[in-house]
Amino acid sequence: MLEDVGPGGLSLGRSAPQAGAGLLQAGDRVLLIDAKRRRYLVRLRAGASFHTHAGIVAHDDVIGIPEGSTVTATTGRRFLVLRPSFADVVVKMPRGAQVIYPKDLGAIVIAGDIAPGCRVLEAGVGSGALSMAMLRAGATVVGYERRADFAERAEQNVAEWVGAEAAYTVEQRDVYDGIGPGPWDRIVLDLPEPWRVVDHAVSALRPGGTLLAYLPTINQTAQLRQALDQAPFSLAETVEILRRTWHVEERSVRPDHRMVAHTGFITTARLVVPPTETL
Ligand SMILES: C[S@@+](CC[C@H](N)C(=O)[O-])C[C@H]1O[C@@H](n2cnc3c(N)ncnc32)[C@H](O)[C@@H]1O
Repeated sequence: MLEDVGPGGLSLGRSAPQAGAGLLQAGDRVLLIDAKRRRYLVRLRAGASFHTHAGIVAHDDVIGIPEGSTVTATTGRRFLVLRPSFADVVVKMPRGAQVIYPKDLGAIVIAGDIAPGCRVLEAGVGSGALSMAMLRAGATVVGYERRADFAERAEQNVAEWVGAEAAYTVEQRDVYDGIGPGPWDRIVLDLPEPWRVVDHAVSALRPGGTLLAYLPTINQTAQLRQALDQAPFSLAETVEILRRTWHVEERSVRPDHRMVAHTGFITTARLVVPPTETL
């Protein structure tokens, strides 16, 4: 449940004030977490109150205390108060398109070698979750998004959660029609037919640059791999990330019965210079 998302607020970007510093203040975003670990994202405002099935929490009871404290609702139920992590924000923030989940975002940042100063062309920005992860890693990101409403949503989410000064622009355009002037260090794709971008990437990526695509099915992944095989790409690799949580309680220590079994496949490849014939 997301409450009262407006401009300003907790910023998670590298140039933003470090989240977690100081006592909780009006304007901060906090998570109220109940005994069943249900999380409610709330923006603190003097005099306001947060209503839930478990009672009402006065924001004034939260303002001025350290995060990690517990507050009591009118019903006597207690809530732990913490500032949200990036992973919390990604699953709670307003979205247009489906976001990439934190377990895959982390893997994409490493597999794509997204680093400070990297120039990244991202296509299919959707809600901006992947943009945020790459901006936090220090990249400069230009996004292409076909839908105007999603482009606007991504820009709002980035401004809200990374900071309005983030090195980020989104252009409303179709990446299948081509890629603007590079060279780009990385091309990162989260859209249905990335094989239609491979030829554009050959001219837009710098030699040695990485193309990364995130796809939900292996059929799409196989088609992409075929296109990469027919182009000057090397070291192609496809992985999926399986994340299994554990139940840890006294003498009962075992994997949880349920897990998210599948999200998507991550494929990477490096652009190479085709060998020239030696005389
Ligand atoms: C699954 S969403 C991306 C979600 C995003 N990675 C995130 O984490 O928030 C896919 C997006 O690709 C966009 N899209 C699809 N085809 C496209 C194209 N040819 N050019 C640009 N954007 C495209 C869709 O409009 C949609 O917003």
